[in-house]
Amino acid sequence: MAAMDANSSYDRMKELKEFDQSKMGVKGLSDSGITSIPRFFVHPPETLSDFKNSSSTCTNIPIIDLSGIINSKDNDHRLKIVEQVKEAAKTWGFFQVINHGVPISVIDETIHAIKAFHDQPHEVKAKYYKRENELGGVMYTSNNDLYRAKSAAWHDSLQAWMGPEPLKVADLPEICRNEVVAWDKSATEVAETVMELLCEGLGLEAGKFKELTFLDVRVLVGHCYPYCPQPDLTVGITSHTDPGVITVLLQNHVPGLQVKHGDEWVNVKPVPGGLIINAGDFLQIISNGEYKSVQHRVLANSSKEARISIVIFFNLAKWKGDGYHGPLPELLSLEKPAIYRNFTKQEFFENFYSKGIDTKSLIEKIKIKN
Ligand code: OGA
Ligand code: NI
Repeated sequence: MAAMDANSSYDRMKELKEFDQSKMGVKGLSDSGITSIPRFFVHPPETLSDFKNSSSTCTNIPIIDLSGIINSKDNDHRLKIVEQVKEAAKTWGFFQVINHGVPISVIDETIHAIKAFHDQPHEVKAKYYKRENELGGVMYTSNNDLYRAKSAAWHDSLQAWMGPEPLKVADLPEICRNEVVAWDKSATEVAETVMELLCEGLGLEAGKFKELTFLDVRVLVGHCYPYCPQPDLTVGITSHTDPGVITVLLQNHVPGLQVKHGDEWVNVKPVPGGLIINAGDFLQIISNGEYKSVQHRVLANSSKEARISIVIFFNLAKWKGDGYHGPLPELLSLEKPAIYRNFTKQEFFENFYSKGIDTKSLIEKIKIKN
């Protein structure tokens, strides 16, 4: 591969631009029947060899049953669930919730609507295709970080900012409009319940995260991972950590998501009706390292059927004072001093938008070194 990259006749930027300007996305490439993928999707051998190192054991991320939590006053039961959530967030950074109160029909309709958006003809989707305007509105694109990442990944996404300003609903593509609005509402309810449990796990008031506006900035992304003809040469999504507070992820039955646990990559098996929750870098920092933001990635899809996932990234709307955050003072003591320094809103955003998605770069930057 290195030799290929050294070949000066290959103009990577030109190819990236042509792909971007075609607005066809990887779904378009896949549907065109290509049998080999463009070179800018090919990942370096060190990434690809790590992909071969997937776990073959049957482990899955923890599954937490929320029945009895919603609208229940059974305190002993709640304490048990708080313990499970805390343990999962500390050791895995990822867990799957079931019996969360969202009807299966809402889940199915959401997946169906996002799939229907991606299945539309090129001309219809192309109207929404753009790359600028990353902080608001609706956009459809292939690889958010196409020009920033070292290699492209085999997915397209429809992205909508659901908060803090209410989205102009008419801006959403009609084919998934009602479903996206309904999903934001349902997923936010689940996120609120989970944030309460996470707060209690830290010994904080249940409503603390909501009060800190952690439910208010919401970016919904409907990913499509179409069939890839050379799944061994590229990835669905590069290994990364999510930058925000928490992420709620809904996936269809086509597998591909993997989570790093110790030295192993664990397959996240789709559980019907299950919702995946993971902690982001921001939560790791403000919990002073108690909850872990963990690397995850998606394999390029080798199945003819597209993998669909709908994620909502939850972020805070209001920063402290003139725009900073850091480990919550309530969690600090002489025995537990801050392991991270405060960071500014500007540092948070600059870090994210200066490069492709990556792993814990903000966390590394603000770690207090002894
Ligand atoms: C993400 C992500 C995983 C998936 O969008 O940050 O990790 O399964 N997505 O789509
Ligand atoms: Ni992610």
